[in-house]
Amino acid sequence: MSINRQVLTLDEFTLQQLRNIPTATGELSRLLRDIGLAAKRINVEVNKAGLVDILGDYGTTNIQGEEVKKLDIYANNQLIGVLKHGISCAGIGSEEMDEIEIFDDEVSNQSKYVCLFDPLDGSSNIDVNVSIGTIFGIYKRVSEIGKPCKMEDFLQPGVKQVAAGYIVYGSSTMLVYATRRGVNGFTLDPQIGEFCLSHPNIQCPSSGKIYSVNHGNFFQYSEGVRKYINNCQNKNKTTGGPYTQRYIGSMVADVHRNLIKGGIFTYPGTIDKPKGKLRLLYECNPFAFIVEVAGGKATNGKERILDIKPTELHQRSPFFVGSSNMMAELEECLLLDNK
Ligand code: AHG
Repeated sequence: MSINRQVLTLDEFTLQQLRNIPTATGELSRLLRDIGLAAKRINVEVNKAGLVDILGDYGTTNIQGEEVKKLDIYANNQLIGVLKHGISCAGIGSEEMDEIEIFDDEVSNQSKYVCLFDPLDGSSNIDVNVSIGTIFGIYKRVSEIGKPCKMEDFLQPGVKQVAAGYIVYGSSTMLVYATRRGVNGFTLDPQIGEFCLSHPNIQCPSSGKIYSVNHGNFFQYSEGVRKYINNCQNKNKTTGGPYTQRYIGSMVADVHRNLIKGGIFTYPGTIDKPKGKLRLLYECNPFAFIVEVAGGKATNGKERILDIKPTELHQRSPFFVGSSNMMAELEECLLLDNK
């Protein structure tokens, strides 16, 4: 098999980007490289997930007498490890931790970025060999450089992200990240252990045929959401419906597919849970940023996700994200809820 060694690796690509911005310090490139390293380590463990019965169940002791960490805790520790020991991050917020962690040391206090992440999203899918993922968003601090970062650095609206990305551990492992300059995707080449540029300048098609929603909650959704789902299922000359329903229960995989092929992903509020399930800071905001840079849209049903000023680290939000024309169609249906 011939392998193309001419493709750019993640490091090469970020360095190339750096050369185009004379004022850049390289701190963001290093941060992305650190996340890429954690992703490779997480990938190794995710690929062994089917062997837990042999190696020891997560949370128990394996036959070598070592404690087998739960995979989401393992992923969390890997991300914290690289970011704490790197030189580009002043602190983190994680789905796995109640509070932010401030890396209060001489080097980290000089860092201008903070990072928010969901280390392993879709973790209920681990046991059944379905794609899962890591999601991250990066912000420039608003607190004083040289001092420890503060909560206010993490509670910025998503529009302030300087970069956001995700890793999907799927049929192949991919890292996709966006800056304001564009969205680029890198596939892990297991032979050289590097993420290689495979999807340059990703654009989300303005229309698509896929809608992703948990149909089990249908009767819990608002009138507007139900109307939109009905539209998706009906013959429609303008949109080319009926659409195809795809929902795997791992947002990373669902949104990744829709970003590439065109589609819409929704996790609406329900009667029982009006704010839905997904977390604004490290699930909705990164995807809203990525999809918007790629030409799509993201809202909570009432306002643009990226404009929401967060009040809490773990706050939830309804989430609608995808191709611009499909989002417009959805928004028209949602007018029913605002009457
Ligand atoms: P978890 O990490 O707890 O498995 O949650 C996954 C998230 C998201 O990735 C996915 O789209 C959604 O929850 C699925 O939730 P439902 O099962 O309620 O549809």
